[in-house]
Amino acid sequence: MMDRSLIFAANWKMNLGPTEARRYAERFLSLTSPIKSRSLWFFPPAVSLGALCEATRGRADLRIGMQNVHWEPKGAFTGETSIPMAMEAGAGAILAGHSERRQLFGETDEYVARKTKAALNLGVTPLVCVGETLGERDGGRTESVIVRQLTPVVDALEPAEWNRVVLAYEPVWAIGTGKNATPDDAAQIHELIRMELGRNGVAVRVPILYGGSVNSGNVLSLLARPQLDGVLVGGASLDPEGWAELVGLS
Ligand code: 13P
Repeated sequence: MMDRSLIFAANWKMNLGPTEARRYAERFLSLTSPIKSRSLWFFPPAVSLGALCEATRGRADLRIGMQNVHWEPKGAFTGETSIPMAMEAGAGAILAGHSERRQLFGETDEYVARKTKAALNLGVTPLVCVGETLGERDGGRTESVIVRQLTPVVDALEPAEWNRVVLAYEPVWAIGTGKNATPDDAAQIHELIRMELGRNGVAVRVPILYGGSVNSGNVLSLLARPQLDGVLVGGASLDPEGWAELVGLS
């Protein structure tokens, strides 16, 4: 089925400290081998990033990224990590606009655009997340919410920069709830996102991952849709055996 290139991204959220990350890496590496058509991305907590990078050195199919960064290179921003610092520790990607950052920590559409632009300027890949809440979906506002979330990013980027961006569609109602979007729903929103980018002069085909309660039982039916270029996974990525199994299914 999978003759295309897929991204399997693990977002560990606030789980797995440096010691656990090293242990995870050892086990995961022993269970997987590089496959040309598959990239494996990990977003550990910031304090575990260095340990995970060291423990996975030499595996070119792996990319390690930050769950959150600031767009400024340095300064008086207590609690934040800059992109150059993250790169020095081994980061090759960043998440921007994860719904938990948006909902719990006040990350605005504007911040998401700044982080995305800063990542591109510095040469790390931004993985930009969009998605609607249940209320927005029930109110028929999915499309307008996604367009609203995308607009500042579209405005900040040159059309050509989009060939270095990855997007994730993560409906908030599907995150950590065990209720994933159906493959049809996900495919439809991915198309909507692509249409919106096209309308704004983005000619490249931007990879779009789906996230929200992905597990070994539903990943194949989701990835059977050509509109999906991979998955962004929280809970099901936290144990190395389960994650190795999931990324091996395709
Ligand atoms: P779950 O896979 O736990 O639903 O989380 C999805 C997510 O938020 C990944 O970024």
